[in-house]
Amino acid sequence: MRRVVCPGSFDPITNGHLDIIGRSARLYDEVTVAVLINVEKSSLFTVDERIEILQTVTKEYPNVKVRKFHGLLVDFCKQNDIPAIVKGIRVVSDFDYELQMAQLNYRLSGVETLFMPTNPEYSFLSSSRVKEIARYGGDVSGLVPDLVHQLLIERLRG
Ligand code: PNS
Repeated sequence: MRRVVCPGSFDPITNGHLDIIGRSARLYDEVTVAVLINVEKSSLFTVDERIEILQTVTKEYPNVKVRKFHGLLVDFCKQNDIPAIVKGIRVVSDFDYELQMAQLNYRLSGVETLFMPTNPEYSFLSSSRVKEIARYGGDVSGLVPDLVHQLLIERLRG
């Protein structure tokens, strides 16, 4: 069984994330989407809400499962017998940051990191920009799954 993990905060998932998850699901037998529980960072959606959203928007992929984790990603990988991490790279500055993390993760555990170029259609996308646009009434349709679009409108309306 070839397993891989797609980790992140997913607050909320964007179409860029979904593209990476879907492409990973075509390459691997099992993809675990791992949502970081980060008590230090305030979030718009709770971890459980994010998990529910992720489960809904990935339901067309039978080999994708969604889990939460805290602590080190490599510990989660070891506990779940996952030998590799997939990370989307949007721009060169992502690579600078991700390379260091990949090398550290490998040094800590031997867990590999594989970089997947983001679809250029989504290379400008991030969860924080999506939240900012939605907060000020901008249109994020096409940038996030429809479910997330609706939830953003509801959550940010008040
Ligand atoms: O979507 P994000 O916030 O960019 O995802 C970052 C994430 C969750 C992949 C990263 O912060 C992470 O792996 N955190 C867990 C702690 C850890 O393992 N840090 C790396 C030490 S080298």
